[in-house]
Amino acid sequence: MTSPAPGVGFRFAGVGAHLPDTIVTNDDLSKNMDTTHEWIFDRTGIGQRHVGGTTSELATAACEKAMQRAGVGPEDIDQLLLATTSPDFICPGTAPQVAHNLGLDCGALDIQAACSGWVYGLVHANGLLLQGMDRILVAGAEALDQITDYTDRGTGILFGNGAGAAVVERDPTGASELLGFDLGAAGEFVHILYAEHGGLLQMDGKEVFRQAVTAINRSATNALERAGLTVADIDLVLPHQANIRIVEAAWKKLGFTMEQTAMRLHETGNTSAASIPLVLDQALDQGRIKEGSIVMFLGFGAGMTWATTIHRWSGDVR
Ligand code: UT7
Repeated sequence: MTSPAPGVGFRFAGVGAHLPDTIVTNDDLSKNMDTTHEWIFDRTGIGQRHVGGTTSELATAACEKAMQRAGVGPEDIDQLLLATTSPDFICPGTAPQVAHNLGLDCGALDIQAACSGWVYGLVHANGLLLQGMDRILVAGAEALDQITDYTDRGTGILFGNGAGAAVVERDPTGASELLGFDLGAAGEFVHILYAEHGGLLQMDGKEVFRQAVTAINRSATNALERAGLTVADIDLVLPHQANIRIVEAAWKKLGFTMEQTAMRLHETGNTSAASIPLVLDQALDQGRIKEGSIVMFLGFGAGMTWATTIHRWSGDVR
């Protein structure tokens, strides 16, 4: 594995996100589940989650915002990559429906890499840009309320719905670039987080926690090495929003600080493939990413899968 092939650049031209209106707080959950706001917040960092909508509806709304901010129309998109672990149907994929909603006339493909899916999508989008495409729409969207067991306090407290999307394009100036990445999968851990056909999410929470910390450490280290960078070079890390304690445990080994980190978990819960574009959208609103910023996306989840990308940021997408 080497660093990304240089040449075409990689620019975020527009970023958008969407959360459904209905909010379920920890106190709401505690009315029907043996849990409390204090337990959930202390053990996870989650304060509430959004529910409702289908994956295609949520994805469409996020993509519309991303395209609007990029100033592009349907004819400008060469490919849609949609990361989701809660598709509208088992078959067909959800991406064709979203492409239809948006009026796209291009290829449309689902990516099922659980919570790492959107970051996998960025790496595959870079490959498509190198193949000659000009502009890719990379979305992450989830309607996890449809596969969450609200009678199980081990999983029912964690998940939420939402969507985020980015229009990425060539940058011939070379100002913005994918500097390094790492993708991985460890199928021996399928059984620690899964949903059977027609079933709900089952999880061994403690083992997922342990494996997530290991995967984060390995993936971030690999990506930094390939980019020729160190932890101190990263201006902002946007990790998958699963549990604040997972991030804190991984940071202890890696040396990142929480000041370098963007978190949105308290208001969204774990939105799987949507979590990183959702936190990216907020970080941009807050002005935390500037011209020349070095930004790391770090996904991990069921599979196990993991994915890290490091970008030099250029351009104003707000
Ligand atoms: O995208 C990846 C998706 N998955 C994850 O990120 C999950 C990773 N794992 C976790 O986040 C944590 O393991 C959980 C939040 C799921 C659980 O936290 P924990 O600190 O590992 O708790 P635990 O399972 O060890 O349970 C500790 C205690 C137990 O009671 P006893 O046996 O000590 O009396 C549980 O029964 O807490 C109890 N408990 C709860 N109490 C109140 C478990 N869930 C709850 C709850 N409310 N919701």
